Amino acid sequence: MIPTVNGSLPGPTINVREGDTLVVHVINNSTYNITIHWHGVFQLKSPWMDGANMITQCPIQPRNNFTYRFDITGQEGTLLWHAHVVNLRATLHGALIIRPRSGRPYPFPKPYKEVPLIFEQWWDVNIELLNLQPAPICDAYLINGLAGDSYPCSKNRMFKLKVVQGKTYLLRIINAALNTHLFFKIADHNVTVVSVDAAYTTPYVSDVMILTPGQTVDALLTADQPIGMYYMSISPYISANSLAPVPPGHDIRSLIVYEGAKSTSSPSMSLLPSGTNAIPTAHRFSSNITSLVGGPYWTPVPYHVDENMFVTMGLGLDPCPPETTCNGPLGQHIAGSFNNRTFVMPETISLQEAYFYNISGVYTDDFPDQPPMKFDYANFSVRTESDYEMMFPERKTSIKTLKFNSTVEIIVQNTGIISPESHPMHLHGFNFYVLGYGFGNYDPIRDARKLNLVNPQMHNTVGVPPGGWVVLRFIANNPGAWMFHCHMDAHLPYGIIMVFIVENGPTPETSLQPPPSNLPQCTHDPTIYES
Ligand code: C2O
Repeated sequence: MIPTVNGSLPGPTINVREGDTLVVHVINNSTYNITIHWHGVFQLKSPWMDGANMITQCPIQPRNNFTYRFDITGQEGTLLWHAHVVNLRATLHGALIIRPRSGRPYPFPKPYKEVPLIFEQWWDVNIELLNLQPAPICDAYLINGLAGDSYPCSKNRMFKLKVVQGKTYLLRIINAALNTHLFFKIADHNVTVVSVDAAYTTPYVSDVMILTPGQTVDALLTADQPIGMYYMSISPYISANSLAPVPPGHDIRSLIVYEGAKSTSSPSMSLLPSGTNAIPTAHRFSSNITSLVGGPYWTPVPYHVDENMFVTMGLGLDPCPPETTCNGPLGQHIAGSFNNRTFVMPETISLQEAYFYNISGVYTDDFPDQPPMKFDYANFSVRTESDYEMMFPERKTSIKTLKFNSTVEIIVQNTGIISPESHPMHLHGFNFYVLGYGFGNYDPIRDARKLNLVNPQMHNTVGVPPGGWVVLRFIANNPGAWMFHCHMDAHLPYGIIMVFIVENGPTPETSLQPPPSNLPQCTHDPTIYES
């Protein structure tokens, strides 16, 4: 038994236009506590609708309902919706497609057809039984709910895209996998990327792409090859050998079928990057994207920064409770951290309600702007007592307060504590500029000079290179409590989470309003799965 939305996997596609108000009634007929998050939606003036479990609301309990209602403004492209409860995102997700207001064109030639492509991970067990330590290996990968001919049992269940020679298609690609970055490639065809994370890009031609969990790419595909059949494949990107979920050993395929192709012809193969090829290929694709300057919703990068943060991110250890066995390194639990803090979820009330009602004891306002000590972040190894201490982060519900409209810069430094794998960082409520990516330790003199302040890509989710860094900037123009976390679902319970509280602006219009009267309340029923 798997939980689904309206009985389908992936769940239903939501189609809206920019400027619309989206209203979604969630009727929880499952046995799980759930919330639904609108991944990448700005939620301007609607922070209670973000659906971040225990951050902006308590979960919707079984046999209960909640209605999400919010405006979608200032963004167009492909996003996704998903459950924001650990593991449940595996099957509770779908596309959220935002088209321009009626009468407004795309900033690229109008495609003949639009095709959502959703990548997923599948497990053969009940989802609550997944062991999260370390991240669980999946039994299959799916494209639009179908595993295709990589697995004997699903040979005849492969997603097929029928195309007409000469026509151009807009692929709306979503990586809804729980824990794996995925390469995507079409045999013998290039694609032109026109948007990432629902932010328009300078058209970028590529033969391969990479998406972290939570990222989306819109790309134009022209059927410009001889009439025939061509594989469209995905394969996991393994950025570190330890910990990362091991792939089943081959690519997962879907098929492009040209009109008039003989059904007996054998499809053209697409070879995906692997081994030593993988990291450079992923880095090239991620770092080559630039924003469409002058396009819809583009705003120049603010030069003045109000808040500077240097945040070390990575995996560490949490002591194993007595009389239990732990599967992590050194016989401990795996913990995640930012600046050596493991985020602990509030349990009795959502963080945003605690903030709004001024309830003390739920969180502390002391998240540090720097790690507690300097060390060789990317090449961490234990040499001293304090190095060893860095492996055991402090567990705390601490937040970072931001002034309304302040410009925030975050240098996220990946660490080699335990494993220098790539982590996809996702910010709720805002897009950020990605000013630069690099490997090794961020150098404030050498690297700051190379940042792109002209046409940097915009994202809500960015993959931090393994043993490397990214520099992000955003404007905190939306009061409320906003998560910034690793979008590998297994890393949520590890606590690779930060929360920003953006303070009120000067007017009621720019202030956090009271929650809707029917916002779910927390009551803890031990028979309900929650994580
Ligand atoms: Cu797509 Cu906080 O998640």
